[in-house]
Amino acid sequence: MKKYIIGNWKSNKTVEEAKQWLDKFNSQLQTTNYNLQAKIIICPAFTHLSLFREYIDAKKLPIELGAQDVSAYDSGAYTGQVSAAMLQGLVDWVIIGHSERRKYFGETDEVLSQKVVQAQKAGLNVIFCVSDEKTAIPDGVAAVAYEPVWAIGSGKTDTPENANAVCGEIKQKTHVATVIYGGSVKPENVASFLSQKQIDGVLPGGASLQANSFFNLITHADTNA
Ligand code: PGA
Repeated sequence: MKKYIIGNWKSNKTVEEAKQWLDKFNSQLQTTNYNLQAKIIICPAFTHLSLFREYIDAKKLPIELGAQDVSAYDSGAYTGQVSAAMLQGLVDWVIIGHSERRKYFGETDEVLSQKVVQAQKAGLNVIFCVSDEKTAIPDGVAAVAYEPVWAIGSGKTDTPENANAVCGEIKQKTHVATVIYGGSVKPENVASFLSQKQIDGVLPGGASLQANSFFNLITHADTNA
């Protein structure tokens, strides 16, 4: 099975910066004639999704697109919300339950379940984030990301061995086949996670923001995993 590398841009980059990232990433791929082994998914802000979709299609970039969140409601009178139907045709994936959504936007297990239902109705694949093996996981998600809160953006990672154990427990509990690790994943440590049996991919945040370092991370993942 291909390993997953999912770049979560969070609330970063202007439209101009997003264009520059795409140009840089594309030229890295072209100039090195690089043959990607992993499945690459980028999750930029909603405002960049159309740009990404057009760029990926025009240049036939071998990457897939994801959103970082979705509304818990159908389309309608919900000012400011982006419904799952609005994402159809733009993205194949959506992250739901990131710890920053839980912490800063008060998203509860109940709201997160509604979001998963909405995503599924629209045929989107859900990457569901949890901070440990005890967190509730709704049925039918495509992938689970184990992300210990203290490892996010801190430069500290879980040990590959412990992350492997937690990912294994999540698989047993949920029967979800794809479980990945996130939290301060960098080019230097990515292979240590991907070489673990139960870890099917990684979810880098900070390390996905610069095209060079993201490309570097991918090449380390491909050659060492
Ligand atoms: P980080 O973020 O790689 O910057 O720690 C990961 C995440 O929050 O998904």
